[in-house]
Amino acid sequence: YSVAVVYGGTSGEREVSLNSGVACADALKEAGFAVDLVDSSVKEDLKKLIDGNYDIAFLALHGKGGEDGTIQGFLETVGIPYTGSGILASAQAVNKGKAKELYAAAGLNVAASAVIGKGDELDDEDLKEISAEIGIPCVVKPTTEGSSLGMTIVHEYDELRGAIDLALSVDEEAMIEAFIEGTELTVGVIGNDDPRALPVIQIVPTEDEFYNFHAKYAQGGSKHLCPAPLSAEATEAVQELTVAAHSVLGCRGISRSDVMMDADGVCWLLETNTLPGMTGTSLVPDAAKVAGMSFPELCEKIVALGLE
Ligand code: DAL
Ligand code: MG
Repeated sequence: YSVAVVYGGTSGEREVSLNSGVACADALKEAGFAVDLVDSSVKEDLKKLIDGNYDIAFLALHGKGGEDGTIQGFLETVGIPYTGSGILASAQAVNKGKAKELYAAAGLNVAASAVIGKGDELDDEDLKEISAEIGIPCVVKPTTEGSSLGMTIVHEYDELRGAIDLALSVDEEAMIEAFIEGTELTVGVIGNDDPRALPVIQIVPTEDEFYNFHAKYAQGGSKHLCPAPLSAEATEAVQELTVAAHSVLGCRGISRSDVMMDADGVCWLLETNTLPGMTGTSLVPDAAKVAGMSFPELCEKIVALGLE
């Protein structure tokens, strides 16, 4: 097979994507594929993609333009098969507000939240009402940005408006979400119609609580443990929750859902990444390794699922 690894793009996570793309291209070569790298922000590269007679596009993009259905629509239009989720699942998952509506409708446990649009004019009374519902501390984040861009943990009511303004400076919508104190877990899920969970990963922050939410993609910002040191029951519960998230959103191929487990052992679903980080040190490749699947084998599996 000949594979075009599509990477780069124009989102805030471009740098992560460049790393994911190179790592996946190397792994696919090792697995015996003919591989070209294509930067989706470069016109000449897109022409090469259309004219190149590739069997499949391997998506190593993250964030807007790559993880949100945009490139998927382009590839559908030009008739090139691609890895990972389709247009609808990608668009639903990338918007944390929409994803949470779908999780909640399916009975999956999510923290209380509210979404505020750029055009919504909130006076102090409105804001106090929202804050009373959700509580302080809370987390304010842009609804469609990946990684840490524009996210704040708000400890006092007086910080709330500034945090919302910050999130709205990088996105059309901001989500205010109850802060769940506990253990941050993340689980890769592989499959199309019959998805299965990889071993659970526990994120261990090495800095302050801010990094609990931020540092999972930052070099040296956090460590992770895989398999997470949880009981068999807890492990199974987290895996079930993330497989359900994958299915509810209609994901294909690979996804990685982030979960907080509170002090009582209750799991709260935060979000699903449809194109999770795939650098050599990323979470999903590490969990795959623990499950006995090398990085080249993981990439090969993702290609096979994309061609199904
Ligand atoms: N958004 C980053 C790439 C991840 O989920 O791994
Ligand atoms: Mg994300």
